[in-house]
Amino acid sequence: MNQAVAKADPASAAGKGGAPRHVAIIMDGNGRWAKKRLLPRVAGHKQGVEAARRTVRAAGDLGIEVLTLYAFSSENWRRPASEIGDLMGLLRRFIIDDIDELAEAGVRLRVIGDYRALSPDIVSLIDSAIARTAENSRTTLVIALNYGAQDELVRAIRSFAADAVAGRIDPQTINDADVEARLDTSDLPPLDLLIRTSGEKRLSNFLLWQAAYAELMFVDTLWPDFDRDALAAAIGQFGQRERRFGGL
Ligand code: FPP
Repeated sequence: MNQAVAKADPASAAGKGGAPRHVAIIMDGNGRWAKKRLLPRVAGHKQGVEAARRTVRAAGDLGIEVLTLYAFSSENWRRPASEIGDLMGLLRRFIIDDIDELAEAGVRLRVIGDYRALSPDIVSLIDSAIARTAENSRTTLVIALNYGAQDELVRAIRSFAADAVAGRIDPQTINDADVEARLDTSDLPPLDLLIRTSGEKRLSNFLLWQAAYAELMFVDTLWPDFDRDALAAAIGQFGQRERRFGGL
């Protein structure tokens, strides 16, 4: 039995009445939330940041070990420059304004995705926030920034190819655990629950490898309206799901 199958062993996995260890959220619906109120899209994104704050606090209280939030995808660069600027401004403010509270609440910050392509001041804010919270252990907040699952896999494949060409690895020995070790999520527990808000039913290039055995939940709530009760309800439903991991 290889390691990835062992990791997905029902006996050791979350579920079956238990709480998920690792929850990821595709925070969708900010634009529609604003449109319904005849507000500019940025107003929806601002409320989206409030929803993210509430959800991080709730995740800690509900005993979730890892919360991964899809904040900016590698495809979001296709949006108008003004909206990209708004999103980067909100991200900058979130880190500056919230780092003290996060650090004091025992939150460890991690980032997945090619975030070094963001503007240098944001990269340095992120790096210092990661360093400052590295020893925290209550909750891990993972923010996906300039993240795309296909890009993550391409980066892993490139690193295998480079090692193979240099004679450091034999391609025939590569197994799924080796692939996992080269993903951005290598040090995180397996994904248990993936939630998408706003009624859309797509994965949109988020955690495609990691979602192999995750429970998927699509809720109609627009992201700015997501709150503690919505997260608690999702966790309650997760506990009702029977996870079989390909077994019976
Ligand atoms: C989707 O809404 C949301 C995003 C593009 C991500 C933005 C996320 C936030 C502002 C929350 C920020 C969180 C942190 C941790 C800083 P959409 O614009 O696609 O909505 P629509 O589909 O209704 O247009």
